[in-house]
Amino acid sequence: MNEVKALIEKYWDKVREHRWYLHQHPEPSHQEKNTAAYIAKVLREIGLEPTENVGGYGVVALIEGKGPGKCVGLRADFDALEITECTGIPYASQNPGIMHACGHDTHTAMLLGAAYVLNELRDRFDGCVKLVFQPAEEDAADSGAKAMIADGVLENPHVDVMYGQHVWPALPTGKIGVRNGAMMASSDRFFITVRGKSSHASRPEGGIDAIMIASYIVAALQSIVARNVGPLDSAVITIGKITGGTRYNIIADEVKMEGTCRNLNPEVRKSMPERITKIARGIAEGMGGSAEVEYRMCYSPTVNDPEQFKLMCGVITETLGEDTLVIPENSALGGEDFSYYCEKIPCCFNWLGCHEEGTPEYPIHNGHFLVQEEAMPLGMETMVGAALKFLAQ
Ligand code: NI
Repeated sequence: MNEVKALIEKYWDKVREHRWYLHQHPEPSHQEKNTAAYIAKVLREIGLEPTENVGGYGVVALIEGKGPGKCVGLRADFDALEITECTGIPYASQNPGIMHACGHDTHTAMLLGAAYVLNELRDRFDGCVKLVFQPAEEDAADSGAKAMIADGVLENPHVDVMYGQHVWPALPTGKIGVRNGAMMASSDRFFITVRGKSSHASRPEGGIDAIMIASYIVAALQSIVARNVGPLDSAVITIGKITGGTRYNIIADEVKMEGTCRNLNPEVRKSMPERITKIARGIAEGMGGSAEVEYRMCYSPTVNDPEQFKLMCGVITETLGEDTLVIPENSALGGEDFSYYCEKIPCCFNWLGCHEEGTPEYPIHNGHFLVQEEAMPLGMETMVGAALKFLAQ
């Protein structure tokens, strides 16, 4: 493993250069054309033959070892978010209003780094490593993982196991979290349209105020979490977008809202569409309006395979030390489309601590979110180590 460390060090400047480039040129889900082209170019430079446009802008490359064997998949996502960057760093986003606020730039740079290292070690392992660069992780309704699987990413050759990771600001740099079983929650999406009737703002009795109805719905939805979900189960309901009305002095006749639901318990998850629909309709009708709810089941929970969890713990403790491994008590309620791979083959997903101690902690999806780059070599070592360990079995 010292050799892996040495190779990571050898390529570190290049990896950081890729990370800075990707960070400066973020592209949102389904628009990652330039990012995909960049990844393919880097892979070609080291003699790999990437396949492009797999399930959208997905890029896949195979590193074949010295003889026949199993195939291990390593996955990184590469889409960005519609957020204005506020970090003030020299390599901040050059695309106004778009930012790598979920750290997918670092995931991709780390997988490019793993490609350099594994490519140099290819005469040292049997089997092959499939590098999966995935677009559109952030679009729960039209997931990149789902599209890549539909486009055959897990076949030819068949992928036996898959590893992935996410930078994790709740853990300091130097720690890596991994759980046996559920890591991340289901992530579903819903749309509510409230209809009322417009009127002059001074004549409310002549209209039906869709904005007021929507306000009550937003507040009442939280009663599902408080009163319908058991205190020991988990649920989050968030309305993240709301639009309605045309002018300050007109009572709005329509409001559109979009939200997400997160669960770890499949039974609780199943009950959500009906609860949300009943509340939205009941309140709207009680106030003279109407509400329509469209509920889309999207990502399942991301669940680690017990064997692969064990392997990952071994890699982390053997190569990075006992102190690096953290086994978090709870899953996170964030969603992750890595769950689609978990449904098909044994997988393991880890949380790469990336918070610089002594600095303010900003969550992912925040304009100030920044990965401490010193975490990246640890992430590469984990991915490379897991691949080599699995292939050596
Ligand atoms: Ni993410």
